[in-house]
Amino acid sequence: MIKDDLKKILVSEKEIVERCEQLGKQLDKDIATMKSPVLFVGILKGSVPFMAELIKHIDSDIEMDFMAVSSYSGTESVGDIKIIKDLDHSIKGRDLVLVEDIVDTGTTIKELKKLLYNKGAHEIKVVTLLDKPSRRKVDIEADYTGFEVENEFVVGFGLDYNQRYRNLPYIGVLKEELY
Ligand code: IMP
Repeated sequence: MIKDDLKKILVSEKEIVERCEQLGKQLDKDIATMKSPVLFVGILKGSVPFMAELIKHIDSDIEMDFMAVSSYSGTESVGDIKIIKDLDHSIKGRDLVLVEDIVDTGTTIKELKKLLYNKGAHEIKVVTLLDKPSRRKVDIEADYTGFEVENEFVVGFGLDYNQRYRNLPYIGVLKEELY
């Protein structure tokens, strides 16, 4: 069982579900002032469980789309981002909520925001499940954060290690011998 590979659990399933409810309700209030329907953009694949949990608490009229960008292979960050799957529709003049699993160095969010503004987005808010502020290399913050975590590589609730462990329903740290 994959849970046997964990050294510890950092954020429990209950904590995640409760925080998603708070964040969802907060977002729902705030997007009332944005251009409807707001487009929720999930960054594949890590944001999928978070997006699913979050939108349960959004009563406003929204749309959803997904993008895939290149990021990690193993535990090391790569500098530039590459679009692997682009959005399906034009975002000219649209208001977006970018949904991320984790903001680490900040490169992905910073480059993505630049790219989406260049494509004509009107306003972009960023919501992330996790934030690792101690790892930041570029000057960027999410507008909404679920939990701050220490400088440790984490897995679960969408986050992977070499594509595995995304299906854990909580956030944990793997045993050292597995890296
Ligand atoms: P950034 O561009 O350095 O902020 O990295 C963002 C991406 O790196 C995230 O969307 C994750 O896919 C990946 N990432 C960063 N830290 C972790 C981690 O601790 N576990 C799993 N993936 C991570």
